[in-house]
Order: sequence, then structure tokens, then C-alpha cells
Amino acid sequence: MQRSLLTLLRGFSLMALLTSAAATAADKIDLIIDTDPGADDVVALLLALASPEEINVRALTTVAGNVRLDKTSRNARLAREWAGREDVPVYAGAPKPLVREPIYAANVHGEEGVPGIAVHEPSKGLAQGNAVQYLIDTLSNAEPHSITLAMLGPQTNLALALIQAPGITQGIKEVIVMGGAHFNGGNITPVAEFNLFADPHAAQVVLASGVKLTYVPLDVTHKVLTSPARLQQLAALQNKAGPRVVDILQAYVKADMEHYGLPGGPVHDASVIAYLLAPELFSGRKVNLTIDSREGPSFGQTVADWYGTLEQPANVFWVNEGNAQGFFDLLTQRLQRLP
Ligand code: BDR
Ligand code: CA
Repeated sequence: MQRSLLTLLRGFSLMALLTSAAATAADKIDLIIDTDPGADDVVALLLALASPEEINVRALTTVAGNVRLDKTSRNARLAREWAGREDVPVYAGAPKPLVREPIYAANVHGEEGVPGIAVHEPSKGLAQGNAVQYLIDTLSNAEPHSITLAMLGPQTNLALALIQAPGITQGIKEVIVMGGAHFNGGNITPVAEFNLFADPHAAQVVLASGVKLTYVPLDVTHKVLTSPARLQQLAALQNKAGPRVVDILQAYVKADMEHYGLPGGPVHDASVIAYLLAPELFSGRKVNLTIDSREGPSFGQTVADWYGTLEQPANVFWVNEGNAQGFFDLLTQRLQRLP
């Protein structure tokens, strides 16, 4: 009698274990990160790669943006190496925007795209094939609405994939974009944010595709700022990742601190990953967004109808608030796990 009760209980606990394991696997975010590293991209990649319980990083796809494509592709491989995650493939994508001439941001990210530290050629190379084809193949064959995309640079790769294969929206769960600016003003022109200015036509293609879209614009990233104490908590980590990120950030935030007179600097792209890991740290609202690609002073501007003035349907979730200390605590806790 006692033994059969024990067997029954064991059966139950095994079932419970299996059910919770299945729930965990199902809840995991299946993520492709499209990126142009980029100092803050590197921090975002490290944060994602250090969070395997919540995020399954399927691949990194690279695009020209902060620096040329060969450098962004090398830097993505460097981030993967620094995270000890060479299992994650890196696919190189578009070397230039859809329509406009390429622009770069070496003045902020340094000539190599990662300021404050020495870079080297990583031992592991790129995956075979192009990022755009990888997106088409993966999203066409994915379970319906199962894959999340984090867009940390110009949206050229996803736009090219959508133009060639509009049906890939079937595989997309949601797209989280670092980009745009409404209340904050721009960082590359008075009204435009860099990623949108670098390829507004691509952003328009993604917006028009009807995928579920969240924007993490300068409005929020300029509220999630470094401080000496926040950098110190990262520097105190007993690994290479903490001090490495501090070296990168110290060099990276200087330009924004000086330009805006801010007490610290933003780590834009990492907020996208933090939003996925801990959405409770952020808030915003659904708005109607339009993107301007007309030549002139408003080229690349994002017009977010925060008050619903135009009475147009909402097409994005626009994040405008973030818990800065919560962000840096999460970053510190996750980077602690890395080599
Ligand atoms: C965005 O532009 C790039 O320079 C950064 O990596 C980030 O994605 C901020 O405007
Ligand atoms: Ca970026």
C-alpha cells in the first residue's frame, strides 16, 4: 500500500517536472537579433547571450550601420566569442541601405565599431549564406507566429526579406525595434534617430508589413543612463565581461554626455533585450506611427501620434519610460554569468 502510494507520488512529481520543463521551453523567446555592432549592440548581445533560460538566440544577422558590414559582422562574432557562445551562428546581410547612400557612426562608436578596447579577428567565422536568405528560410518554415526579431540597427535585412517573401510574416511573433524619437528629438538630425535615418525606407517596409511592432526609441533610452555607481557595479564583477563592458561604455557614452549635457549616457540597444527579459521595467502605449522618408529636414523622422490626434489606428507599441536602476541591476546580474 505504502509502496504504491510512493510510486504514485513519484509519478506525479515526474509529471510536474516534465510539465514545467515543457512550459519553460514553450515560454522561451525564440529570438533572431539583427544588429550593427556598435558599442551598445555588443552590450545587448552579451545580455541576450547570458540569458539562455529566457531567450533562445537562434542567430545573429548583421547589417551595415554604425560601421561597414565587414566590421559589424566581425564585432558580432567578437561578442559571441566574449560570451562563450560560439554555438550561435552569425550571418552577414545587407552592405548598404535599400535606397539612400550608407552612413556610419564612427564618430560615436570608433573606427572599429567597438570603442575603448582592442578588437581582434575571432577564431570562428561567419555562417554560410546570407542573412536575408536565412530570414526568409527560417521565418517561412517556422511555427506560426513563433519567432521574435530584435532589430538593433537599420532594418534593411528584414525589409529585403519582406520584399522578396512577404509571406514570412507568418513566422514572426513580434518585432522589437531600437529606433525612432518623438518627445526626445533626434540624435543624428534634430528630429531623426540614427537607425531610422540610416534606412527609413526599410523601416517603412517593416511597418507596412503589419507585423506586431514595438519601438524602443530615444524617448526611453535617454532615460536609462549610466552613472559612476552603475558602471562601478559592472566593474566589480569578477570576470572579463564586467570590466570589458565598462571599458566600452566609458568610451561610448562620452559623446552623448557632452552633446546633450546628460549626467550619464544611454545604452540604447540593450534596452530592447531588457524589454524582452523584464517588460515590467518599461512602459508605453499603442500609437499610430508614420515614418518620413522625404528629402529634407524631416528625413528619417518618426511621427508617433501619442495623443491619438489623427484618429488613425495604432500600429506600434511605443515605449517611453524605463526603470534605469532596474536595467543596470539586470545587466549586472546577467553579465556576472559570462566568462
Ligand atoms: C542607435 O544607433 C546606433 O548608433 C546605436 O547602435 C543604436 O542602435 C541609437 O540611435
Ligand atoms: Ca545598433
